[in-house]
Amino acid sequence: MPQDQLFSFDIQAEDPHCAARAGVFHTAHGDVPTPIFMPVGTKATVKGITPDQLKQLGAKIILANTYHLSQRPGPELIAHMGGLHAWERWDAPILTDSGGFQVFSHNDFVKLSDDGVSFRVVDYDGRHVTWTPEENMRIAELLGADIVMQLDVCPGYPCDRAYLERAVQLSSAWAARCWQAHTRPDQALFGIVQGGMDLSLRVQSLRVLEECGDFPGYGIGGYSVGESHETMFESLAPLASEYMPKHKPRYLMGVGNPATLVRAVGCGVDMFDCVLPTRTARMGTAFSSEGRMNLKHARFIDDPRPIDETCGCPACAQGFSRSYLNHLVRQKEMLGSILISLHNIWYLLDLMRRARNAVIEGCYPAFERAFLESEAGRRD
Ligand code: GUN
Ligand code: ZN
Repeated sequence: MPQDQLFSFDIQAEDPHCAARAGVFHTAHGDVPTPIFMPVGTKATVKGITPDQLKQLGAKIILANTYHLSQRPGPELIAHMGGLHAWERWDAPILTDSGGFQVFSHNDFVKLSDDGVSFRVVDYDGRHVTWTPEENMRIAELLGADIVMQLDVCPGYPCDRAYLERAVQLSSAWAARCWQAHTRPDQALFGIVQGGMDLSLRVQSLRVLEECGDFPGYGIGGYSVGESHETMFESLAPLASEYMPKHKPRYLMGVGNPATLVRAVGCGVDMFDCVLPTRTARMGTAFSSEGRMNLKHARFIDDPRPIDETCGCPACAQGFSRSYLNHLVRQKEMLGSILISLHNIWYLLDLMRRARNAVIEGCYPAFERAFLESEAGRRD
């Protein structure tokens, strides 16, 4: 049975005009202020960025993925090398996603049963693998992250009603089994709310999770799977602001576009992760106060300005020009990917720092409105 005494969450300020809050959660590897963006290091590395650089950017917690690391190099090796923190030289908090999402999106021959999920590992060696919730927890415990997510089923969109209900039913049953199987007192196990775009199914999913165990936090999964932002907020806004327990962190999984982050904080979401800032950086795309910018574009060939004149990131502060980045991206030089990744991660971390300050100052709705009406918010 889990003991989550090492994990706790304190709310420090609530905006009186909306559901936004500022808080801090405490883990075995340190404290994390919220709202927070968590850079993704799927295979135990945030691609191209050293832990030192992540710290300089202000990253407080990073992700890794149980699915990928279970395939290569395997959780036993990582445990033998001292666990994820020691192995990847990151001494601050880590969250591992269960791989529920990757199993369904990356593989074929995915078969669900009450007992678990079996799939063929397309990304690696084509082996057939069966995961039970117990096996997933065993892997997560070997990796040793501070927060671990339950094994769940993430349906796509659109999705027929029968599959959506089955996904909720299995995710709930697996949450209970993960809760029973989880033993490490230094790891906080989060449940995951599913239910697609249907608010009543989501509330039902949440209620069942609350009966399964005293989860110290909740993931909100199954969004950003092909629906429009409007469709997403129709159920996400009431779910987060009216139904989710107030004193537990709320983690919107796999969402990273700036405007959605700002709106979701207004609905009471505390945590986010997404590959968007780093994946788009590797394709030459930067977030900026003028909206998304593809540095490959010919108009930047002789542009001497940094990506964003208002930005304090290491790439902009050192004066790397749009012209130089245009050259690096076109020539597929790795420094181009690295500099734009630094910028994009800084951008989202800084956006959440500003959001947090706005909550503390009690002016979140004005902050949200100003951002959504700006070029950055309208063209993200
Ligand atoms: N990442 C993005 N969405 C999801 C989800 O629904 N479940 C899990 N486990 N991870 C995710
Ligand atoms: Zn920058």
